[in-house]
Amino acid sequence: MPQKPAKVDPRINQKLDGRYLLLELLGEGGSGKVYLGRHVQLGKRVAVKVLHRSLVHDERSVERFRKEAQSVANLDNPHIIQVFDYGQAPDGSPYIAMELLQGESFASRLNARRLPLDELLAILTQIVDGLGEAHALGFVHRDLRPRNIMLIEREGQKDYVKILDFGLAKIVRPGSDPSVSGVGFVMGDPTYSAPEQMKAQKIDGRTDLYALGIMTYQALAGQPPFSGNTVFEVMGKHLDSPVPPLEGSAIAVPRGIDAVLCRALAKNPQDRFPTVLMFLEALLALRDAPEVSPQKPARHPVFFGTTSYLNLQPPTRNDQTPVLARMPGGGVLHLPPGTPLPGPVAPPVSGPVAGPPATPAAPAAPAAPGADPATSGGIPLGAPSQTFLAREEELLHLRMQEAARTRRTWTVLVLLGAALIGGAVWGITRCSSEEDPDRKSVV
Ligand SMILES: Nc1ncnc2c1ncn2[C@@H]1O[C@H](COP(=O)(O)OP(=O)(O)O)[C@@H](O)[C@H]1O
Ligand SMILES: [Mg+2]
Repeated sequence: MPQKPAKVDPRINQKLDGRYLLLELLGEGGSGKVYLGRHVQLGKRVAVKVLHRSLVHDERSVERFRKEAQSVANLDNPHIIQVFDYGQAPDGSPYIAMELLQGESFASRLNARRLPLDELLAILTQIVDGLGEAHALGFVHRDLRPRNIMLIEREGQKDYVKILDFGLAKIVRPGSDPSVSGVGFVMGDPTYSAPEQMKAQKIDGRTDLYALGIMTYQALAGQPPFSGNTVFEVMGKHLDSPVPPLEGSAIAVPRGIDAVLCRALAKNPQDRFPTVLMFLEALLALRDAPEVSPQKPARHPVFFGTTSYLNLQPPTRNDQTPVLARMPGGGVLHLPPGTPLPGPVAPPVSGPVAGPPATPAAPAAPAAPGADPATSGGIPLGAPSQTFLAREEELLHLRMQEAARTRRTWTVLVLLGAALIGGAVWGITRCSSEEDPDRKSVV
């Protein structure tokens, strides 16, 4: 069958405003397409980002884009990509012409591996340099994520940081007019979006700080703190879930990292570090902190809502550890691996427990008034009450005794059965060997 020829981008080999000849498509994102271009008069190679036409609603959005492109062009920081020019393609789509970068995106670095603290700090220091200056001038990036950070080589320095798409989200994101109200609602990949963006509340430099906190967590842990199958699941976690602790998890981290990350990722911007620089300083201070060694993940299910462990292993969970919730009344609910525990996991109270002292698998959640799991009939939410714990402990103990009794009974039965069968076989063999000589004599 003849192959369908690949659709050629109609902009290739076209000139924009008689100035930029578009040569090749470099990539495509949610907001538009990025081309390799050449300034026809100067002969200089540039990157040209042409925004989707659908983002241009009216003259006001073009004007807003023009203003924003101008402001970003005025940001003169070596770690923020330089924007030279802006304009409108013949079909009305706005475009910006910027520095052409060659390198690796921070996203592909993070997808490839976890980063050691020193490597991460070298990158963060440069991001904070750019962000800090922009924040001081009143600019917020609004869409800080690994795909918008490029690591290039400059004058022999590897991993030289360039921040892309500064302030572009202000123009391309739907929602209320950000230039008027200062609020912005983000759709799309919510992995790096702060709670205030989801709630369409006022945003400022601390919104970028939150995104930086998520990237830091991801770089150290190998995965972002909040993920899920749907946009709404991830958004819900940003809004309500505590940051999963790294200290005492299956990876080695500097002691104190959880406190720093929790502050950067506080749900309320008021509780975060006031500036990105203060966040960086807190991280730099951890360089000499003692390391919390990795804990062996439990291979067997851990129970919550009880003070006991069936596995009798160090109480460390990873995403693959099955979670069983004991229901009031004795039933057991199987939850998917990775389900966060609502309360602290208490240490085992009986049995030969090996390993280090218990580390909470999730920060303690205060018991919700009137939500005593012993009486609510659902998954025990919040810290379980003492009565509930005692009862569950007793139940578990009884079950384990019963299981041991059943095991003993079965062992005795199997042994008896084996003895009987053995005796019968022996008897039959004996009889037949005694009968043989008679048979011979008859023959
Ligand atoms: N200045 C640039 N130089 C070289 N490549 C770029 C430049 N800007 C963007 N790109 C590339 O173009 C692609 C699309 O970018 P973009 O539209 O911003 O989408 P996203 O941020 O979702 O990746 C990205 O993969 C990026 O690597
Ligand atoms: Mg981008």
